[in-house]
Amino acid sequence: MAKEEMGPADNWPPRILTSTKMPIQFYVDDVVNPDYDISLEVRQENPWSVMEGDQAVGRLLYSAGGVNKRGPYLVDVTWPQKYRVQPDMSSIDEGACDLIHGLVRAIRPRLVLETGTHKGRSTHAITSALCKNEYGVMYTLDCIKWIDLTDVLSPGERERITQIVGVSPHALAAHPLGDLKGIDFAFLDGAHDGETLLREIEYVDAHRSSTCYVAIDNSLDAGWPEIRKTLDEYDKYPWHAVIETMAGMDLICMRDEPPKVAEGATHQVAATPKKKVAPEGGQGDA
Ligand SMILES: C[S@@+](CC[C@H](N)C(=O)[O-])C[C@H]1O[C@@H](n2cnc3c(N)ncnc32)[C@H](O)[C@@H]1O
Repeated sequence: MAKEEMGPADNWPPRILTSTKMPIQFYVDDVVNPDYDISLEVRQENPWSVMEGDQAVGRLLYSAGGVNKRGPYLVDVTWPQKYRVQPDMSSIDEGACDLIHGLVRAIRPRLVLETGTHKGRSTHAITSALCKNEYGVMYTLDCIKWIDLTDVLSPGERERITQIVGVSPHALAAHPLGDLKGIDFAFLDGAHDGETLLREIEYVDAHRSSTCYVAIDNSLDAGWPEIRKTLDEYDKYPWHAVIETMAGMDLICMRDEPPKVAEGATHQVAATPKKKVAPEGGQGDA
């Protein structure tokens, strides 16, 4: 097959992951698991899975052209150290982060609810957008405190976030979530069973602003079939998109009234057209 015909699937997994910002290549030399006894057979059955307790051990290699231009030459910039990190596959993918970040930038919500904080990847995608907006606050719920968000968010982002540890759907009825009013953006990525998801959707509907966008992750993910089933059965609002992200993301618009055009956009045509300004030496409108 010609190289140009190869799609992303043919190239997967990439041999080298290269940073887009620096000429640094990220090498994983080994995956070790000191705490659990994972047999080679299990590993071979799940070659691209991250097992509980896995640690990636690797190096950062700087890629240089070289004086003779025969590069790339690789410099092991962490030598003699290696990095050792705990991979975690629960975070949403980077494209989905960009999607919800962009939605928050575009919609400019006043009050955001998230279920499924985990280690804060999606939380950061949203709070960083609220910071750029200089507007809006966010509540995020998880049954486990995987991380203290104050450790990973910037001071500005921290001011806009309330981290709650509690089990959904029970925590939705307790303070402070039980008292929330005016949610206008929600990201649901917590419990992935149909019953809890439905209760979360109903909670958002009961505590929302006149218009509220609700994004639900893993909606096309075969690993969580109850999510698709629940969303297919939920037909209260007609504005409901299914977006083919890495794991699938549904977007529901809950609104009191049908959408209608409104005045106030910056590109609104002025009632009285302004006189054209003539270019230098030319003539303007008579
Ligand atoms: C897929 S992870 C969320 C990933 C996160 N949104 C991110 O991008 O980093 C799902 C999270 O939901 C939490 N969770 C599962 N069931 C829950 C429940 N009933 N109530 C609250 N949180 C729950 C888990 O502890 C886990 O952290």
